Amino acid sequence: MSLIELKRIVKSYPLDGLQLKILKGIDLQIEDGEFVAIMGPSGSGKSTLMNILGCLDKPTSGSYVLDGQRVDNMTADELAEIRNRKLGFVFQGFNLLPRTTALENVELPMVYANVPAAIREKRARDALTKVGLKERMYHQPSQLSGGQQQRVAIARAVVNEAPIIFADEPTGNLDTKMSVEIMKLFTRLNEELRRTIILVTHEDDIARYARRIIRLVDGEIYSDERNSRD
Ligand SMILES: Nc1ncnc2c1ncn2[C@@H]1O[C@H](COP(=O)(O)OP(=O)(O)OP(=O)(O)O)[C@@H](O)[C@H]1O
Ligand SMILES: [Mg+2]
Repeated sequence: MSLIELKRIVKSYPLDGLQLKILKGIDLQIEDGEFVAIMGPSGSGKSTLMNILGCLDKPTSGSYVLDGQRVDNMTADELAEIRNRKLGFVFQGFNLLPRTTALENVELPMVYANVPAAIREKRARDALTKVGLKERMYHQPSQLSGGQQQRVAIARAVVNEAPIIFADEPTGNLDTKMSVEIMKLFTRLNEELRRTIILVTHEDDIARYARRIIRLVDGEIYSDERNSRD
């Protein structure tokens, strides 16, 4: 059984009394330990698909089995529980809390997961050290560079040991040097810590780091290829 199994996933929104189909029947399997890039033109449905994969949104129809569990018909509370235990997110624009230290930002998902304070702090320190921010734990987001803020966001995504990490345009606002740094970090998370990584990007240079590239066009999978790097 695959880690992720989507069957005939449809997402539609009501528009002028009609249903506008955004995802038109996606069939997709992703195995444990894969590193996948999702590409495609603006409006092709990448974020919509990511939100469904990440249990942030439900499909209109179709089935989604995540790690052996049927999730497409779960309640909002059940989905939140799955997200807390299994999923980490790196959002575009970082989503860090302002006027809050890097350390506290990284502790946040563990606050939601009711991890005791002492353990929380230790894990957050370890995660920030791993992303090279040992010397910046007490800085607030405004006191960090874009790449450093992004690394805080990644530390926060991995700190509850989520086996699956979702990232939507994780290098969106970064220069080339910072982007390379971030992608090396994802590669290490994938290769050394065996985390499954699914990221959205519109840049070929970024997608190159993934081992599989899925292209969406107009709500459908247009191509699904192993990266030639292998
Ligand atoms: N809540 C909504 N109601 C109606 N239409 C929506 C809604 N959310 C998204 N859409 C439409 O769904 C389509 C796909 O949106 P989505 O955000 O998934 O695109 P994307 O591939 O991530 O694009 P981008 O590269 O610009 O981020 C768009 O045409 C968008 O207008
Ligand atoms: Mg998008």
